[in-house]
Amino acid sequence: MEAEKKGREKVCVTGAAGFIASWFVELLLSKGYIVHGTVRDPSTHEKNAHLWSLDKAPENLKLFKADLLDYDSLRSAIEGCSGVFHAASPVIISPVPDPELEVIEPAVKGTSNVLKASLEAKVKRVVYVSSLAAVGMNPNLPKGQVIDETCRSDEDYCRKMEKWYCLSKTLAEKEAFGFAEGNGIDVVTVCPSLTLGPLLQPTVNASSKILVDVMKGVHDPVPNRIRNIGDARDVAAAIVLAYEKPEAKGRYICTGYPIKMLDLVNKLRSLYPGYSYPTTFTDIEENVVISTRKLQGLGWTARPLEETLVDSVESFRRIGIL
Ligand SMILES: NC(=O)c1ccc[n+]([C@@H]2O[C@H](COP(=O)([O-])OP(=O)(O)OC[C@H]3O[C@@H](n4cnc5c(N)ncnc54)[C@H](OP(=O)(O)O)[C@@H]3O)[C@@H](O)[C@H]2O)c1
Repeated sequence: MEAEKKGREKVCVTGAAGFIASWFVELLLSKGYIVHGTVRDPSTHEKNAHLWSLDKAPENLKLFKADLLDYDSLRSAIEGCSGVFHAASPVIISPVPDPELEVIEPAVKGTSNVLKASLEAKVKRVVYVSSLAAVGMNPNLPKGQVIDETCRSDEDYCRKMEKWYCLSKTLAEKEAFGFAEGNGIDVVTVCPSLTLGPLLQPTVNASSKILVDVMKGVHDPVPNRIRNIGDARDVAAAIVLAYEKPEAKGRYICTGYPIKMLDLVNKLRSLYPGYSYPTTFTDIEENVVISTRKLQGLGWTARPLEETLVDSVESFRRIGIL
């Protein structure tokens, strides 16, 4: 009955071929939704083939060519949909020559375009995939404070530290809530931490590359900081809960487990000996606790970290990057 009801519901996913979005496209299709996915180039077989091989994709998936800065292209994809999942955004963590053009504008203007098109299409709810980067990049958070949905990254600090990705996600989330307030559209955001897990897409994305680099010892010495790791399949579940639960409201932090880099390397080495792991770890004073209580209140749970690591590494081996 529930599946049948969802079977009639059309939703749009922006950036559908990306790492995390591919997992919630898979979940949405499995629940019987009709999915309008936006991609920048629907004609590239290698980039999108993994979407077409998902169960129910041939009958229930339609890909639209859309760029975040092209309002009309987004409007065509969103038209007729009752829900929108906005995941497309430049995930560029390394320095770029023009951060405004390459990172900030597509994230912020793109979010505003998606919301405008959603308003025009009378969409019931927009779920925006924000980030922990929009939550915790703030030097003024009191030491030892539990990081929850009330915390926000400091725009000036992001600028000063040249953390352009963090700035882009902070500004885009602010844009989303500002637009929602001004126009009466229902927006819920999910703020995932560093997300790993098996790849559906054929190439490695930025967050997965962090794990690949650890196993290849690309950086050595490594600051022994805490990494809060989530699984893309659990992020997908959180995003769909944020859409389906009528009581969902505001922001939801989504993370699995905190682990110090040294402990992560030791765990990986015990599971997968024989890689060139880093050998030197520099001390970092950190006392960060991140709360997922609000998300758990929607019925969300995280799978064990070991499952995430093993499934990630196995998928890296499958595509030949490890
Ligand atoms: N992975 C993480 O650790 C993590 C953590 C927190 C939040 N997030 C958020 O989750 C979302 C998905 O990230 P991901 O890790 O899955 O990264 P990803 O695989 O790089 O996906 C990003 C997607 O955005 C699309 N995109 C970028 N610029 C665009 C533009 N100008 N117009 C249209 N599409 C554009 C890309 O399309 P193309 O395929 O055409 O390049 C890609 O499909 C992002 O909003 C990211 O900020 C990720």
